[in-house]
Amino acid sequence: MNSKTEAFLTQQVPMAWAEVGKSHKHESAVLHVLGEATYTDDIPEAQGTLHAALGLSSKAHANILSMDLEPVRRMPGVVAVYTHKDIPGTNDCGPIIHDDPILSPGLVQYIGQPIFIVVAKSHEQARRAARKAVIEYEELPAILTPQAARDAQSFVVPPMHLARGDAQAAFERSKHRLKGELQVGGQEQFYLEGQIAYAVPKEGDGMHVYCSTQHPTEMQHVVAHALHRHSHDIVVECRRMGGAFGGKESQSALWAACAAISAARTKRPVKLRADRDDDMMVTGKRHCFYYEYEIGYGDDGRISAAKVQMVSRAGFSADLSAPVATRAVCHFDNTYYLGDVDIRAMCGKTNTQSNTAFRGFGGPQGAIAIEYIVDEIARNLGMDALDVRKINFYGRNDEEGRNVTQYGQKIVDNVIHELVEQLVSESDYRKRRDEINAFNATSPVLKRGLALTPVKFGIAFNVTHFNQAGALVHVYTDGSVLVNHGGTEMGQGINTKVCQVVAHELGISLDLVRASATNTSKVANTSATAASTGADLNGKAAQDAAHTIRKRLAEFAVKLHGGAVEDVRFEAGQIVVNGSAVPFPELVQKAYMARVQLWSDGFYATPGLHWDPKTMSGNPFSYYAYGASVSEVVVDTLTGEWKLLKVNALYDAGQSLNPAIDVGQVEGAFVQGMGWLTTEELWWNASGKLMTHAPSTYKIPGVSDCPENFDIRLFKNRNVTDSIHRSKAVGEPPLLLPFSVFLAIRDACSSVANHKFNPPLRAPATSEAILNAISAVQELAQG
Ligand code: MTE
Ligand code: MOS
Repeated sequence: MNSKTEAFLTQQVPMAWAEVGKSHKHESAVLHVLGEATYTDDIPEAQGTLHAALGLSSKAHANILSMDLEPVRRMPGVVAVYTHKDIPGTNDCGPIIHDDPILSPGLVQYIGQPIFIVVAKSHEQARRAARKAVIEYEELPAILTPQAARDAQSFVVPPMHLARGDAQAAFERSKHRLKGELQVGGQEQFYLEGQIAYAVPKEGDGMHVYCSTQHPTEMQHVVAHALHRHSHDIVVECRRMGGAFGGKESQSALWAACAAISAARTKRPVKLRADRDDDMMVTGKRHCFYYEYEIGYGDDGRISAAKVQMVSRAGFSADLSAPVATRAVCHFDNTYYLGDVDIRAMCGKTNTQSNTAFRGFGGPQGAIAIEYIVDEIARNLGMDALDVRKINFYGRNDEEGRNVTQYGQKIVDNVIHELVEQLVSESDYRKRRDEINAFNATSPVLKRGLALTPVKFGIAFNVTHFNQAGALVHVYTDGSVLVNHGGTEMGQGINTKVCQVVAHELGISLDLVRASATNTSKVANTSATAASTGADLNGKAAQDAAHTIRKRLAEFAVKLHGGAVEDVRFEAGQIVVNGSAVPFPELVQKAYMARVQLWSDGFYATPGLHWDPKTMSGNPFSYYAYGASVSEVVVDTLTGEWKLLKVNALYDAGQSLNPAIDVGQVEGAFVQGMGWLTTEELWWNASGKLMTHAPSTYKIPGVSDCPENFDIRLFKNRNVTDSIHRSKAVGEPPLLLPFSVFLAIRDACSSVANHKFNPPLRAPATSEAILNAISAVQELAQG
């Protein structure tokens, strides 16, 4: 092949004909609406299927002295009861560090920890029986908060430290100094479809596990280890999840393992479906964080020194707490160049659920702290917070010398200046600020608040080797196409996007391309669909596979029709070659007869990434996604009730693969992030029992909490990095947009004393927290 041909074949398909960049509907939209989309619990049950339930610890920290399971066995319908002694292989489901027993081996470390499995003829019978165990405990002292964990030096991984320059010296030199603390709560993933696994024994040592999981490969590993079998014995399959939000990245493993252990022992299919309360009692959530900070800044609000110590509530085991803390450290800067920096992060080991991934993966927890701090600087200086933000933004280019992050990555795609300018003008920010001041001056009880907050979010897994993906594309002889890739569909639209990429590459319409269930026997050794990289990685891998087929078809077409390979075009369902247009199915049929391979694998590994966890430095991200939002709220200062009146948001999805899906992701993430920062409160009692373990006590936003005026737009941009069709990830970054809701509430609270004092508002800003903040401000005002 000559170099001109090579160049042609690697170029992007001409945009005159395009299946990417269009607002195609979600590939399952119709099935969702009709109720026909198959979730794990909808798979027709094989004959003889049994149902499992888990017996849970009722103590936060204790040794099990004795356990009488006879009353469980005697319950109607019970077939078997299994403890850790019945696990044929390794009793562990920890994703990184192996400190996560599937079933307690005698020590329990939180209320809700699984101790035994009951297998019964029905789901109901299994659940009833699970309550009947008689367990005698010897209680041990429990650690329940991140602060208590820090005081006891109780950590799941060693503390982390990242320093640039001499932050202490810079702090002492600074004109203005500020010290403070902040508490930010955790968050339950609250996927609509709970955790579930259905294990079906196959011949020999085979086990097929249908599982609602973001990480089929890890489920395969955990099940293989627990059953003491090889990876090739285990198939894990997931057609789709009814939401996951990080909660099914590592924590689907417990359910997959327990179903598989029960199926292996009983030699019958076993389904384990968590009831909502059990799901919330057993599984980890977003980490709550506690921060202490010291900041130095100048008269203009520019930050010159930033020292922060963050402690997260890791729960009883490591799970993903270390990478979550790493991402928090790497997102403490958000959109700002911070001068000399000293960041310490600790993962407090507590006797609570083992916290895990949740949309943003520590990024939101890192960035909220600096936004809270910038908000304080503005109030201390009597400036509009927008102006303090702008003066601290990363530089536009090298000359300013302000474009290197605290971990050493140079930012080459900064669009925050233009993006914020556009948002300020579209939202009429300055004028509304004046209007709100005027409103508040005459309104003694209802106070309005306004805030604009920016977002910068690094895209890629910090751990370099996770940044790889594989795909398999089959072209059948009728011209229809089936795609399998390593990513998982959780509602975010990855299948739609990957199918668009394949359709585009082959020049056919999207309805000829179908995505099949994610299956470990098709694409091996996949990474979790996480870190917002799903479409980036799997889109590229599928493009690679489709490209190989396209190349073979182009060469074949030239053999038939003459002309040059570099002139062959694939568009609108046809192959245009040497003056003739051949319908795609016709050429495919002929190619098959001529024994041309019509299917291919594809692979992608993100280039240019490196990360040194010891020094916490490197180039961990492929690029950054940007965004900003303006929120306006009204707060009732007597009751703490509030309402979100209006939102304007701009999000940088690069050259969006599918604007409709991307706007949907921004809307969903915005509302979900707003819930985290306002109404969703996790509350453990003094014994360490999570009391908010159902929607009756744990308040996620409802449709009526969405603002009437919800204006979300995509910022016109093109990724400078060679991402899939120059798009940018959208899954997680918009979760940081509703920082503006939280800070608008804080703005309203501070208006009760004319913005003279910083309201000590904790997140979530529940009505109680809002009233506490307001009374603290009133006390300060009275001296
Ligand atoms: N959107 C829906 N509807 N449901 C989900 O569970 N998870 C989020 C986000 N958007 C989620 C979602 C999380 S945590 C991530 S990491 C990304 O989707 C993963 O998908 P992607 O990488 O394909 O964007
Ligand atoms: Mo998302 S928290 O990376 O699964």
